[in-house]
Amino acid sequence: NDEQFKNVISHAKEYGFVFQSSEIYDGLSAVYDYGQLGAELKNNIKTYWWKAMVQMHENIVGIDSAIFMHPKVWKASGHVDGFNDPMIDNKDSKKRYRADQLLENKIDELYSELANFSEANQAQFEKFQQGILALSDEEQAAWIIGFKNETEILDPSKHPFVEETSWRFVRKGLALEVEMNLALKAENLSQLKDLIVDYKVICPISKTSNWTDVRQFNLMFSTQFGAMADGSEEVYLRPETAQGIFVNFLNVQKTGRMKIPFGIAQIGKAFRNEVIARQFIMRMREFEQMEMQFFVRPGEDKKWFEYWKEARLKWHKALGTPPEKYRYHDHVKLAHYANAATDIEFEFPFGFKEVEGIHSRTDFDLSQHQEYSGKKMQYFDSDLDENGKPYGNYVPYVIETSIGLDRMFLLTMINALEEEDLSTAEKQDSRTLLRLHPALAPIKAAIFPLTKKDGLPEKAREIMDSLKLDFNCMYEEKDAIGKRYRRQDAIGTPFCITVDHQTLEDNTVTIRHRDTMEQQRIEIKDLHFTIDSKVSW
Ligand code: GAP
Repeated sequence: NDEQFKNVISHAKEYGFVFQSSEIYDGLSAVYDYGQLGAELKNNIKTYWWKAMVQMHENIVGIDSAIFMHPKVWKASGHVDGFNDPMIDNKDSKKRYRADQLLENKIDELYSELANFSEANQAQFEKFQQGILALSDEEQAAWIIGFKNETEILDPSKHPFVEETSWRFVRKGLALEVEMNLALKAENLSQLKDLIVDYKVICPISKTSNWTDVRQFNLMFSTQFGAMADGSEEVYLRPETAQGIFVNFLNVQKTGRMKIPFGIAQIGKAFRNEVIARQFIMRMREFEQMEMQFFVRPGEDKKWFEYWKEARLKWHKALGTPPEKYRYHDHVKLAHYANAATDIEFEFPFGFKEVEGIHSRTDFDLSQHQEYSGKKMQYFDSDLDENGKPYGNYVPYVIETSIGLDRMFLLTMINALEEEDLSTAEKQDSRTLLRLHPALAPIKAAIFPLTKKDGLPEKAREIMDSLKLDFNCMYEEKDAIGKRYRRQDAIGTPFCITVDHQTLEDNTVTIRHRDTMEQQRIEIKDLHFTIDSKVSW
């Protein structure tokens, strides 16, 4: 799996999909640039999302709000006070770790080992528990649970998994034992996972004491607005696009004459000062989100949460991804503003990870903005309730769908890249194939003159000119034709069109299909339809 992931990263670079930012200066950590093909693929993913969310829903509109927002926005949203990552430093190695990430990695590793076995299989679960006991010091540090409010959460009378003895260990600073007990007391894996997700790992303390205490790092980037250097004009780069939607809720509702339920969608950059950023474009400091806030009547939030949970998974599966690669991960422990939340997870080479979150955010955000701005964030609902009375004024509830564009990009590349064995009895052969959904493919058709003479390039150019208005096409005349085909396979181009001498006589070309490698002779006038029928949504 490591190998597969490395192949995706090097393929992305070799063919111009993704480059490290500022590479000639040895790069900037966790920041990436999309190259000539990456930008196309990314745009196609955006289009797929935008069409599914905005164009296909009459009650969803899209906006494009600014990255900079009034500093009070982030006070109201809770990001200034609560958008932190728990970090721990190893005093010896001077390395810094995200405490919860260390934990998550280890769980995933152990979990994926067991993925082939039923969760009810006690023997396997016991092996998992053995694995926990065999953790290294560094890993142990991450397994230790600390709490913002130890007395409340670790109180054995309030939690059946915490024993008296563990409680005493905590008081002595040996929180490790508590964690071990949790793991050993859970009855099965999913219960353990839920427990661990439930318990925020915020205070690892190592047995070997060369770890610092956990410190909270705010993830927002801040900068000076205007010329003031005294901090009075400090603004943040937005850590999510959602707040741009919330603050515009009434602007859009009124000017668009939107009736509840309705949604506002947006695609845009977000910035987080991830302390530990890794796994290529999985966790970046500058990334892009595709978010939609769906405003509903209070009391109807659960229904719409279920609707969007299902609708969003359908969207993913419609791209032809094997369904078993996806799963939901329902949150057990909810953020203070949410009354339901689930992640859509994809099985990356490094385990199941979140790609998208669906959150039922209640009226938290709008109410907060109402309080901080002093402006009413209410909607007047003239529809009649079951008693025949208008619903009247209320602060709507919100269901949010939030997908990381870069993660979706990575998932798409991982799914598509394969080394296809083409060996026959006579000879060994293989090809590198990027089996992208044709609608996502950066180049829809490549046009090749068979040779560089006899008027073939001119004819090929003519075809290129007639197609490029509607499709992103590529013209190529260098190298042998077989080599040119293989290059297009590697970048996912669904069609290659070859112009040969017969073309000049009868206006036909060969069209080669990427997946089957079949070649057909068709008339030039039918090219447009043939391509369009495959690449349009
Ligand atoms: N408005 C809700 C929100 O921002 P989130 O779970 O923090 O929720 C939503 O982020 C999605 O954004 C995630 O599911 C993930 O795909 C993506 N995302 C978050 N942080 C990221 C990062 N540092 N790099 C790349 N994508 C990220």
